[in-house]
Amino acid sequence: MTRPSWAPEGIDLDRPSASRVYDYFVGGMHNFEIDRALAREIEAFTPNVAHTMRADRELLRRIVRYLVEDANVTQFLDLGSGIPTAGNVHEVAQARNPEVNVVYVDIDPVAVAHSRALLEGNSHTAVVHADVADPDGVLADPLVTGLLDFDRPVAILLMGVLQFLPDAADPAGAVARLQEAVVPGSYLAISHATADGQPEEVLAAQRLSGRTATEIVLRSKEEIGGYFHNWTLLEPGLVQLQAWRPDHGEDLSRAVADSGAFGGLARKR
Ligand SMILES: C[S@@+](CC[C@H](N)C(=O)[O-])C[C@H]1O[C@@H](n2cnc3c(N)ncnc32)[C@H](O)[C@@H]1O
Repeated sequence: MTRPSWAPEGIDLDRPSASRVYDYFVGGMHNFEIDRALAREIEAFTPNVAHTMRADRELLRRIVRYLVEDANVTQFLDLGSGIPTAGNVHEVAQARNPEVNVVYVDIDPVAVAHSRALLEGNSHTAVVHADVADPDGVLADPLVTGLLDFDRPVAILLMGVLQFLPDAADPAGAVARLQEAVVPGSYLAISHATADGQPEEVLAAQRLSGRTATEIVLRSKEEIGGYFHNWTLLEPGLVQLQAWRPDHGEDLSRAVADSGAFGGLARKR
């Protein structure tokens, strides 16, 4: 197939990618038929996966809004940021405070190239092509050190990304290193896919992710909670995505039950 102009040279067009499948699920335009076919197969097993991904993106926006409006956070390190789609971190944050600095980090070349194109001219943002499993590499990157002041609080966002790190890549160690790099008053947001409380089909759908370069690892609520280490979880704690400070007063019980991921926000003491 021909490579569209937004796709960087050298990417594998014959293999679906996690970020492009996610882009399709959240309504983005930067995906190929091979990604959409996988997404449709996943959806055929269970609608919960698509539902969870959309809920994840909505939770990301609620958390950023809270951090800028109520916690006065002015610096974000968004790891596994994905292909930009409506309501990106800098859009939500800078609409409330134009001085907020945001560094996006992703391992996927399409996500990085497209983020760079979108952010051209925005001096309060930067995009880094790096692996979350290499936190020292991320923290030493000149774009990170140039834009973020580690003597002031930073919000570390790990939304929907740690599930792409197998245990062998030591996700807990990577998170701990990031936590160590920031001052008290900093925040850590995590969302992570789980099989807890999910129908059997979710496992079948998860296995399909093995077709991409990054198979998803579903972890238990206890394991996910462990990633916050000794930081203080804000209310309502680590919960299913829609249950974290929902915007509207509607009955979310069905949506919450369908959500195959947990999310939470913690503060460094
Ligand atoms: C499910 S998307 C989440 C996007 C965004 N954080 C959100 O919550 O809407 C996961 C993203 O993590 C990226 N990713 C996967 N493994 C990664 C790694 N080891 N390092 C950095 N990014 C990674 C993928 O490329 C993809 O863009």
